[in-house]
Amino acid sequence: MSVTADGASHGSPDTAAEARRRRTFAVISHPDAGKSTLTEALALHAAAITSAGAVHGKGERRGVTSDWMDMERARGISITSAALRIDYDDCVLNLLDTPGHADFSEDTYRVLAAVDCAIMLLDSAKGLEPQTLKLFDVCRARSVPVITFVNKWDRPGREPLELLDEIEQRIGLRPTPLNWPVGIAGDFRGLIDRSAGDTYTKMHRTPGGATRAEEQPLSHADAAETEGAVWAQSLEELELLGEIGADYDEESFLAGKSSPVLFGAALPNFGVAQLLRTLVRLAPPPSAEADEKGRPRPVDAPFSGLVFKMQANMDKAHRDRMAFVRVCSGRFERGMVLTHASTGRPFATKYSQAVFGSERQTIDTAYPGDVIALVNAHSLRVGDTLFDGPEVHFPPIPSFAPEHFAVARALDAGRYKQFRRGIEQMDAEGVVQVLTSDVRGEQAPVLAAVGPLQFDVVKHRMEQEFRAPIELAHIDYNVARRTDAASAPVLHGLSGAEVLKRRSDGELLMLVHNKWRLKVIERDHPEAVMEPLLAGG
Ligand code: G4P
Repeated sequence: MSVTADGASHGSPDTAAEARRRRTFAVISHPDAGKSTLTEALALHAAAITSAGAVHGKGERRGVTSDWMDMERARGISITSAALRIDYDDCVLNLLDTPGHADFSEDTYRVLAAVDCAIMLLDSAKGLEPQTLKLFDVCRARSVPVITFVNKWDRPGREPLELLDEIEQRIGLRPTPLNWPVGIAGDFRGLIDRSAGDTYTKMHRTPGGATRAEEQPLSHADAAETEGAVWAQSLEELELLGEIGADYDEESFLAGKSSPVLFGAALPNFGVAQLLRTLVRLAPPPSAEADEKGRPRPVDAPFSGLVFKMQANMDKAHRDRMAFVRVCSGRFERGMVLTHASTGRPFATKYSQAVFGSERQTIDTAYPGDVIALVNAHSLRVGDTLFDGPEVHFPPIPSFAPEHFAVARALDAGRYKQFRRGIEQMDAEGVVQVLTSDVRGEQAPVLAAVGPLQFDVVKHRMEQEFRAPIELAHIDYNVARRTDAASAPVLHGLSGAEVLKRRSDGELLMLVHNKWRLKVIERDHPEAVMEPLLAGG
């Protein structure tokens, strides 16, 4: 990094090379598909952790992925996105966690604004599940390329061709298998690597039920002999794949239209090595990010970064706020004074940290694709841009379709001023969406969330941070649609529906009890605007 007399700094020549080594991705899946197991298996294979033995139970598995979460839990909060860095084959893989269990929330979606690729993880017995579908919608809307990993092949599941068909039919994503399983789900014999001249690797379980399966290459002749009829069947299926042209195609993959598919089993750690190789070979490195006006900022331009997540520290003694920033361009160096694009104010990065799963480290340099955590980030908001050198504003991260709604009221009327300030803050940080209407009045805003945990966070913070305890009365709406000023008077007051204004952007949202009621309203009022919001809506 060189700094010129006018204070502008320029990316060093190695910034572009460092960016090319980065793969920044997330795993999208439904709870229980095996995300934690896969995360660990990836780290294990890349030798980021030393022992395979700790992979077993949920309780013991925390080592790699969840220490950071535990730390936060101890402080009374369990929402966070850790970034796990995996060094592999001269690449730096940044795996951004998508909290996706009971604590499914807007944060989960926002992480997808900070990745260049996603792994869609499917349980071989279940195929596409609701949460996966919602997250996939976000990937599609953002044109994030998706690699599919069909997990748990060591357990009884569905036919491989049937799973491919489901992907193609339900989400219109053309599957292009990179490997093919030998043996049906539950009788997993091995994998044929279509991307490497159909080499066959036999799965060889280590004795004593240890978690790590060994990979054993086998010639086709030997495979025919050892595997018998299942081998012949796999070859037939392979031939079929060739005939229907289900071959990897870079252009459609990067455009989010086709998806390389890998079969495997994360728990016995089989097929995971190929996933790592696939990430390195096929997943796109960071590229020029377009600003609000669509102008690309090259990765070797001076520093720019996007705030994709805010984390409030629940500890009263350390009322800190941390911003997670994805580096979009340039080399980040600790201590840089950046500009906060939306206010034009300087932001000092003396206390920047890298958050790598189990520990926070003070970070000195970071490159495009890396995630840095900035402490004391009280002025930053989700979607904000930080930059050095020429000014840049990245487009805001879209709001997602809320599915849970509650009216907030101050428990102590004497603390109304604090109540208002707190709600404003929750809105600005994007902890929940805040909706208002003349009918309900300022004192009873409606909070809207993607996942109910977001309400718990608001309740806790209003009490602890603003000393303005609230009560939340859940209201029976499940669906939100965007409407407009002309349609609002028609829709507002219809049975089972209500129109409110979203504070952050002034959008008018119609809330409806459920999708059946929505269907009736759509039928009765074809003239009214009722557009779905991004994901889930
Ligand atoms: P999640 O983070 O997506 O929620 O899933 P997680 O990794 O916790 O995995 C959910 C369950 O599926 C776990 O079992 C895990 O061991 C199992 N699992 C994951 N991948 C595989 C696989 O490839 N093969 C098999 N057979 N099982 C797999 P659990 O019984 O719920 O918990 P645990 O106590 O065994 O950890």
